[in-house]
Amino acid sequence: MDIIKLTDSEFETLVDFVYKKYGINLRKKRVLIEGRMAGTLRGKNLNSFSEYINLLLSDKSGKEMINFLNRITTNHTFFMREMEHFRFMTEKALPYFEQARGRFRQLRFWSAGCATGQEPYTIAMTVSDYFANKGSLWNISVLATDISMEALEKAEKGVYTADEIKDVPKSWLSKYFEDNNDGTYRVSDKIRRQITFRPLNLNEDFNFPYRFDIIFCRNVMIYFDETTRERLVNRFYKVTADGGFLFVGHSEVVNRRATNYQYVMPAIYRKKEE
Ligand SMILES: C[S@@+](CC[C@H](N)C(=O)[O-])C[C@H]1O[C@@H](n2cnc3c(N)ncnc32)[C@H](O)[C@@H]1O
Repeated sequence: MDIIKLTDSEFETLVDFVYKKYGINLRKKRVLIEGRMAGTLRGKNLNSFSEYINLLLSDKSGKEMINFLNRITTNHTFFMREMEHFRFMTEKALPYFEQARGRFRQLRFWSAGCATGQEPYTIAMTVSDYFANKGSLWNISVLATDISMEALEKAEKGVYTADEIKDVPKSWLSKYFEDNNDGTYRVSDKIRRQITFRPLNLNEDFNFPYRFDIIFCRNVMIYFDETTRERLVNRFYKVTADGGFLFVGHSEVVNRRATNYQYVMPAIYRKKEE
């Protein structure tokens, strides 16, 4: 069956809209869009991308746009991804907060672009381990956000297959997971209680009544162009606590001249302590 091609003007309309609304740059994704959307167009009995774009732009619920973005971007993620960050947390960041916060025993984390949840769960497990080993009680909260409702639904369920948890240490499996006895494993309530899942488009304004001690925004900004990335990093800066950190993916670059964060090591940036 022939794939429906994008005309130049259809392509421009799509690229322009998605960039303005989500900061995602699809300029080099023409063939990928045609390939990945072929099934959707066929399923909806549409004969051109113009018809699809009309449907996309008139859907006030925004569901079709999210479906489109789900197909074009990837929610791929896994437990223990980029372990350097979790090692840094255990060895440097958490000991720092433990000392600096004194009696105010509260830490807030944000997994911005959490996909199907493996990242925020790894954060909560790392922190739980750290404080449990020291026998001290801290109030831990992790905000986990994404634009993909499909990914968030899976994240919130917290149920993973044996293959998806293959990198999780054995000790964590017994401590932080329940075996469903059907080949799947569910994250324990103790960990789930620490996490709040919410839809959030990083390209739209965000405001919080508090600041975060560590923001994880890993493998998300790869979709954004430089201007969008720089703007986002500056908005993260405003909601980072003094002495707090921004973790980005190891393949992502933060333009050091365009941010007040200080470079700590690859993929780790820090807001000055006041
Ligand atoms: C590859 S996953 C990264 C997941 C996790 N952070 C990791 O490193 O494993 C990228 C996620 O970014 C989300 N995303 C892309 N653009 C976004 C936007 N404008 N606002 C919020 N989330 C976005 C996608 O839906 C996807 O779930």
